[in-house]
Order: sequence, then C-alpha cells, then structure tokens
Amino acid sequence: MCGIVGCILKNREVAPVLVEATGKLEYRGYDSVGIATVDNEGIHIKKDAGKIKEVDKKLNVSNLPGNTGIGHVRWATHGVPNQVNAHPHNDCDNNIAIVHNGIIENYGDIKISLEKEGHTFKSDTDTEVIAHLLEKFMGKGKNLEEAMKETLKIIEGSYAIAAICKSNPHQIVATRKESPLIVGVEGDESYIASDIPAILKYTKNIIYIDDYELVVLDKEGVAIKDLKGNIIEKKIDVIDWTEDMAEKEGYDFFTIKEINEEPTTAKNTLKEKTEVEKVVSSIGDIDRICFVACGTSYHASLVGKYLIEGLIGIHTDVLLASEFKHSVKTLTKNTLCIFISQSGETADTIKALKLANEFSKTLSIVNVLGSTIARESDHTIYTLAGPEIGVAATKSYISQLISIYLFAAYLAKDKDGFSGFNRIMDSLESLPDFIEEILSKEDQIIEIAKKYKDVFNFVFIGRGLSFPTAMEGSLKLKEISYIHSEGYAAGELKHGPLALIEDGIPVVVVIPEDEDHGKSLNNLKEVKSRGADIIAIVSRRDTVVQSESDETICLNEKIDPIISPLTYIVPLQLLAYHISLARGLDPDKPKNLAKCVTVE
Ligand code: G6P
Repeated sequence: MCGIVGCILKNREVAPVLVEATGKLEYRGYDSVGIATVDNEGIHIKKDAGKIKEVDKKLNVSNLPGNTGIGHVRWATHGVPNQVNAHPHNDCDNNIAIVHNGIIENYGDIKISLEKEGHTFKSDTDTEVIAHLLEKFMGKGKNLEEAMKETLKIIEGSYAIAAICKSNPHQIVATRKESPLIVGVEGDESYIASDIPAILKYTKNIIYIDDYELVVLDKEGVAIKDLKGNIIEKKIDVIDWTEDMAEKEGYDFFTIKEINEEPTTAKNTLKEKTEVEKVVSSIGDIDRICFVACGTSYHASLVGKYLIEGLIGIHTDVLLASEFKHSVKTLTKNTLCIFISQSGETADTIKALKLANEFSKTLSIVNVLGSTIARESDHTIYTLAGPEIGVAATKSYISQLISIYLFAAYLAKDKDGFSGFNRIMDSLESLPDFIEEILSKEDQIIEIAKKYKDVFNFVFIGRGLSFPTAMEGSLKLKEISYIHSEGYAAGELKHGPLALIEDGIPVVVVIPEDEDHGKSLNNLKEVKSRGADIIAIVSRRDTVVQSESDETICLNEKIDPIISPLTYIVPLQLLAYHISLARGLDPDKPKNLAKCVTVE
C-alpha cells in the first residue's frame, strides 16, 4: 500500500541505494515507482508506471546525482497508475519534492483553494497538495521543517511523508500519522522508510516513529521532535533480522521460499512459549474473546474461535476489522479483543484497535516488531516469522496459528487444568517434522496444478477446524492464480453453492480424521455425484476417502486432528503457488494487491 524511503549518505550517491530499497518495498505496491534526489543544482526526479527494474532500465534512475534523496513505490488510490501520478510529486517551480503513503482526505478543498492562489497541479493524486502547501509556506519565508508543521495543521487523513528541497540539499524532513515510518542510523548515514526490509542491507539500528513526530535528517544526524519543536529522546532498537531473510536465497520467488521456511518458522514461534504464558497470566478476568483481523489473519482468527470455544468454552467472536465499529457497544472491560496482524500496520485493524482500547482489554499477535498494532495494544505476542515479502501470507499464517494455539493452551491450563494443554503442546512439538514431510510432496502437487491450471472455478470445503483451512486455501488460490474460488463450510453446500457444481469443477475437500469426518465424506459424495473432480487433503490411512477422490494429497496419520489447520493448509499453499506458476503469473506480486494495506 505504497512505501516510502529516503536517505542521506556520506560521500556517495543515494540513487543506487534508493533503487535497491524501493525494490525491497515492492511488496507494498508496484504499479509505479519514482526517486527524487537533491544537490546544489536542485531537485532531480525520475518516475514512471511499472516496477523499479523496468523503470530503472528505461530511465536510468540509478544515475540521479546527489547524496540526499527519497523514493516511493505506489499502490494507486487517487489517479490511475501512470508517469504523472507516480511519486515523487513537486511544487510549481520544482524546488520541493515529496513522497507520501496514505490518503489526504480533504485534498479536494485544499486543491481548489491552492489553485485560486495560483498553484498549478499536474497530477490527479491527493498527495500533490502537500508539495504545494510546502511551497506556499516556504514562499512566506519558512524553512522546510516549519513549512511541514504548517502543512500538518491543514491536511487530514493518514500519512507518512518525506520531503526534500532545493534550498537545503542536505536535509530530509519526514513525519507520520497512521502510516508506518521508521528511521535507520548507521554512523554518519541515516535513513527513513515505511518498513525494515527496505533498509536492512544498510542498518539494523532502528527507531520507530510515532504519530505527529517530526524527523529531521541532515549532515549532523537525526533529530526527532514534537510539533512544538522539542527534541524527543527515542530508543534505538537493534533488530536481529538478517539481510538474507529478506532475499530469495536461490528460490525463484519469495512465496515458495517462505513456504519452505515454515518448519523453521514453527520452531521459532514455539520458542515464545514462556512469553505467551506470561501474557496469559497477566490478562486477568475475561468472559469473552473477540478476534479482530483482515485477510489471512482473519482466517487464523477463525481457527482461534473453534479452538477456544471447543477447548475452554469461552464465548469467542471473530470480526473483520473493517466492520468492527458496528460491534463496539457489545464490548466490556472483561472482553479481551485479540488483534491478529502480520504487518502490524493494517489501517482497518489499527482503527479497530484504537476503538477497542477505549472499552476492553487488548492483545495483539503481530509479526513485525515495534509496529503500530504491537505498540498500541495492552499486551503483545510476537509471532517471530521473520520478514515475509510475498504478498500472499504463508509462513506468517502458520506462525499466527501457533501463537493462537499457545495462547489457547495456556488459557486452557489456567481455566480447565491440563488435558487440553498437554494435547496441544504435544502436537505442536511434532509440527515442524510434519510440515517438512508435506513439503516433500511438492512434485505431486505440481502435477495436480498442471491438471487444473485452466479451470474457471474452484470450490474448497471443510467442517469445524477445517472450515477456516478451506477459506484460506481458497483465498491463496484467488490471490495468486486469479482463478475464481469459494471456500465454504461443507454443511452449507446444500444451501446454495451446490448449484455451481458441474462436470469437472475441482472441489478441494479438507478432511482430516476428526469428529466431522463422516459428514464431510457425505458432502464429498454429494459433489462427486454431481460431476465434481475431488481433490482430497486426507490422512494417509483414510482409504475410504482416497477411493472416492480423483486426486489425493495424503498426510501423516499421526497428525492429531486438533492441529490439522497447521498442516492441511500447507498443500493448499503449494497448490496455489504452482497453479500461479503454471499460468505464467508472478505469485509474489499479484495484481491489484499489496502486502500492507495502510488505507481503510
Ligand atoms: C493484505 C495482504 C494479506 C493480509 C492482509 C492483512 O490484504 O495482502 O496477505 O492477510 O492484508 O494483513 P495483516 O498484515 O494485518 O495480517
């Protein structure tokens, strides 16, 4: 959802660094890209629609001169993706350049009044008003920092902004409200970025910027101030992510690298046991749990509901973050709202968290350290999946689920003694090996992908804990292969979707040997008798289902059905990935989507 970056380097040109850094941010948006640098000659901008590799090849962006610069990757909101709408944007006289992530909600009115004052706009974006406001205030004798403060009094909406100007070619001024912004410091060189992977190659010393803080980068280093100009002392966190973690390391795509990292991720997340136990014991009395999330994190939350209600009997709801405000009146001080988010920066989830903080206890389960959601909730559990670059969440889903399982297990131990606790803990211990074994089935899954790559519709069904797996399998497929698919509770088929079943339509049946097995088998037969091709994700010893299916992906019979969501999803991630490849697509960067959605 747009990414910004900027840096001031000592005795070396910034453009090659910004080209590399914008490439690392492409998971946030990739319809256009641009870089602006500044030196004693003035502002230099190169930008266009397309990804950084193509645009650099076409315009030689790496060749821009100067030690100070800013860059942007765009996920269009206002204005089609083209050269004019790409960032950086500038003022009338090209004395200022800015990049922005977010939405300026009152840009329409601001634009009309600036036009009346004589400003000429080039683009259809909301962002361009920021450049002209800075121009207006600098025209009244203010420096860039002061002009930014004046601008912030006028603009409404969400933003992370970085600006440079001709009159001070060794300075970047940046700020944020509701969109992420970090600062990196390494000796005499300093950086700003939307996210850590952009600058991981250059520094691991990170400062997390809060809303309404003003960052001034110059030759002296970094100063962080409040809007009155007071210096704010901020902590520098040394992060332990390595550069390799944000590289493909020999894999063709991040998505497949990240799926293959799942056994390691599982081990890392499991190391957080003690932290999770501490969080559970510090929460106090709760009589209701309310999960809040979007996308894949929403599906992880659905698993949480089955687990917590099934094991412990605490009433649990799952709400889409974008719909959360409609349920606010039901919250009490004994409600625990759990916010699940890989990025920790999803705008809908942040909005919901801020509301929940007023009425209930809040806990976040988040991957990115120091992210807004992590910082703004009462308690935080980190999933420790490492950086995830592929837009479709894969390893982070596994790590979210493990965190939820650990949470549920410790809650069960607290409330109901040890039986639920021991069952979950024992099963989780063997999880990395089970996933490893599933990954070894990739060749078989490639063949299934080739067989079904040209169909128009897919259906995924499951019951109980396998219902969220069906939904997540379906989401993975539509995200990265662009095949229409539906994920359904198998029992709901007869209430509508059965009408869609016809000869040859693939129906993926997620059918572990759990209490719902018999009913799921009936559903399998119902779709089969209407012509569907059955792809069963099934236990190795379940010969009945295997004999009824066209394709079977058989999983170890020793997998306790209670952890089936953590295992039965893996073949579905691989299936979506290989169908995407077989259709000649880029699974890492699906069209119209972004990894981190910082607009509502
Ligand atoms: C976007 C991503 C999804 C992700 C969702 C929620 O839509 O493309 O992969 O599941 O946001 O993101 P979060 O970071 O809050 O988990």
